[in-house]
Amino acid sequence: MTATASKEPGLRVDTRGTNQLPPHLDEDLLTPRFYTTEFDKAAKTDLDQAREEFQAMYKEMEADYNRNHFDRKASLDRLDELSPEDKAIYESYLVRSVVSEFSGFLLFKEISNRFKKSGRKELGQFFQFLARDEARHAGFLSRALVSEGIEVDLPHLGGKRAATFFPLSWVLYSLYLSEKIGYWRYILMDRHLKANPDNAFAPLFDFFEPWCQDENRHGDCINVMMRCWPGMTKGFRGKILSRFFLWTVFLTHTLTVCERGEFYQLLGIDPVSFDEEVIIKTNNTSKNAFPWVYNFDDGKFLELRVKIVDAFREWRSTSGIKKPLAFSKFVGLILKQFALPMQKTNAVRYG
Ligand SMILES: [Fe+2]
Ligand SMILES: [Fe+2]
Repeated sequence: MTATASKEPGLRVDTRGTNQLPPHLDEDLLTPRFYTTEFDKAAKTDLDQAREEFQAMYKEMEADYNRNHFDRKASLDRLDELSPEDKAIYESYLVRSVVSEFSGFLLFKEISNRFKKSGRKELGQFFQFLARDEARHAGFLSRALVSEGIEVDLPHLGGKRAATFFPLSWVLYSLYLSEKIGYWRYILMDRHLKANPDNAFAPLFDFFEPWCQDENRHGDCINVMMRCWPGMTKGFRGKILSRFFLWTVFLTHTLTVCERGEFYQLLGIDPVSFDEEVIIKTNNTSKNAFPWVYNFDDGKFLELRVKIVDAFREWRSTSGIKKPLAFSKFVGLILKQFALPMQKTNAVRYG
């Protein structure tokens, strides 16, 4: 029998009697981030500008195509015995995913509540649909963790970290990208595992396809919101916001995937090509929402990623006098990437 230690409310981890959280279940990692935004401004969203599209997306969300997909009774027990190192890699992936889905739920729920309080009922309900999906995703991942002997009590995870404020335009740009990049991550993993079924070591992966369609729809919902605020995607403001958010999200993705490449290797995926494909697809999809996207034609953006990862590793591993030098090399490379050419898109804009 193994002991179950309770280190804090909301988290019960099978620690095999040590009363210590294993490093891959770090407390900081288990604390969702909170965001707040200009809720009063958001309450003034002029839906009439994109009424038809809004109605279509509202209907799609209301239809709730995945209502029965996340079967509460389906077994999520891991199929294969993994080495302790591989088991930790898988659990770490589950923990990061559950926290990120749950953070999405908290944000959508808060936006929904604020809309409802301001008398914007249909917008409140619209975001309630998004919150519903993220709660489902988080709940499902949480069940996969239970199969690993790790119990995360989601409702008690909230409220520990101070909320970070972002303007509405920042929230919409970053939400759009996080939903679309989430879509591409899930669908590319799903395609790979369907082509290489021997690598699918847990039934959780069988649920990825309809799951990623949820994320795709969420991105489309956020796109409708962006279209209700045409000023966000116009002129210099639209260009700098597009550049900044695409660059930030892609850079974070590259560093995360390359630093935690073990999980992808466990699935038989090459992390560097996976990162590249996710970035190319997400950049392409963003043409539907952003006024500008990166132009990858000269190959420089993708080439620089490899140098950036090397410089990042060098900075992390050196000490003493070499550290600031390695840091400035890293910063120089990421700024170079930031400034690479972009191309104008034909995204629909009103106003
Ligand atoms: Fe999700
Ligand atoms: Fe989502």
